[in-house]
Amino acid sequence: MTARTRVAVLISGRGSNLASLLEAARDPGYPADIVLTVASRADAPGLDHAERAGIATGVVAFGRGRARAEAEADLEATLRSHDVAFICLAGFMHVLSEDFVRRWEGRMLNIHPSLLPSFKGLDTHRRALAAGAAIHGCTVHFVNAEVDAGAIVAQAAVPILADDTEDTLAARVLAQEHRLYPIALAAVLRDETQETAGADDALVQVRRPGPA
Ligand code: GRF
Repeated sequence: MTARTRVAVLISGRGSNLASLLEAARDPGYPADIVLTVASRADAPGLDHAERAGIATGVVAFGRGRARAEAEADLEATLRSHDVAFICLAGFMHVLSEDFVRRWEGRMLNIHPSLLPSFKGLDTHRRALAAGAAIHGCTVHFVNAEVDAGAIVAQAAVPILADDTEDTLAARVLAQEHRLYPIALAAVLRDETQETAGADDALVQVRRPGPA
């Protein structure tokens, strides 16, 4: 069997995307082995998912006045001590430095709750509704120095319904995030470039960018 890539998932909160990645990685044929979860705060509820799955967890405090360089040095040491080769950001609420991002270039993904390049940043569901968009969704992309702007790997689209509220829309997009992230991570690690899957009310499109 080919070696599975050792992946760390970085979270700050709920960790539902972490849970979906852990679920996918239970299959021994899945190309990622999630070996570590790092939370940016000790009270992140998502840590429970990692503990239940029996994988290593770490807490590296970010923000709240702590120098980013110091936090990133801790993070690097934690990643190294678990021999991590690839990072998935999943609701990690801190912007990483250009240096850190460069070191992990091509080896770090993020999931964002909009169809990028629309609605970078926060409050994406509220903004999509306010803009009168008909289609919304989520994106998995490589992380680069500019927030929510790295090369797009995969997207899932959902229609915005006439009676949608921020909550109903967020729930439908989140269901697609849980489906998309494992597909996108596997595509990157297997070096697949194209996959289209239509199911339920969503279209999933993987179009992994080739080598830079
Ligand atoms: C998700 O909507 C993700 O797209 C965004 O933050 C949220 C994290 O949710 N980056 P969870 O912690 O994975 O449940």
